[in-house]
Amino acid sequence: MNHPAEEPQEANAPMNHAKINPFDETAAQWDAEPRRVDLARAVGQAILRHARPTPDMNVLDYGCGTGLLGRFLLPHVQNVTGADSSPGMLQVLEDKIRSDNLRHMRATRLDLEHDPVPETRYHLIVANMVLHHVRRIDVLLAAFHRMTLPGGMVALADLDAEPGTFHRPDTKENVFHHGFDRREFMDCLRQVGFVEVSDATAHVIRKPIATGEVREFPVFLIVGRCAGDERPPRPGHDQR
Ligand SMILES: C[S@@+](CC[C@H](N)C(=O)[O-])C[C@H]1O[C@@H](n2cnc3c(N)ncnc32)[C@H](O)[C@@H]1O
Repeated sequence: MNHPAEEPQEANAPMNHAKINPFDETAAQWDAEPRRVDLARAVGQAILRHARPTPDMNVLDYGCGTGLLGRFLLPHVQNVTGADSSPGMLQVLEDKIRSDNLRHMRATRLDLEHDPVPETRYHLIVANMVLHHVRRIDVLLAAFHRMTLPGGMVALADLDAEPGTFHRPDTKENVFHHGFDRREFMDCLRQVGFVEVSDATAHVIRKPIATGEVREFPVFLIVGRCAGDERPPRPGHDQR
């Protein structure tokens, strides 16, 4: 297997924080919801169109969950590392890797909002629907920039700004953003050092909200390139 050296902490390593991760509880049933599978496929197709990954690339799928997006991209790249803060999600991915003999995919525990930034660099970092669960987006994007090889790319998918109806009231505990304004988000990417930043609509999620009405929630894909060798100052993890 041709994975980059100096990988972050392994999937079954103990969590830094004692708090229960709510994603652990949904992990086993995550893929049973067709809406999630459809979204990952649509985002994967948008990444093929807009980031144009190649077979020599090492890819990080950050906030990978059960690995739906990374699994879609796997045939198009050299290898995929799925990273997530939920041991439950990572266990489901580990099981898939074993049962489907995915020799070029691996799972690892990582929370870039709280953990030190690993030394590993990637040609492409992708993330689907994790950003709204991260309080300090500036810390996360700066970490992505440090982890992207010069000339490499990020391709990040999440909800456009929404009125706070996407998540059920009982699942809002770990939701820190009601989607994102694309222009502001693209400016954040430029501020940490990405260039050639562009956006597209990858998908529109149709789902019932708490009242029972079905609403549409557009999902953007924002792509940026890491210009050169220079790295921005490492964000202080005590800035939160
Ligand atoms: C809505 S799910 C999306 C999962 C997957 N990307 C998909 O498309 O099916 C969000 C994922 O982000 C993970 N997550 C939330 N906060 C995180 C953080 N700070 N660092 C890493 N992963 C995080 C959760 O554990 C969960 O697996």
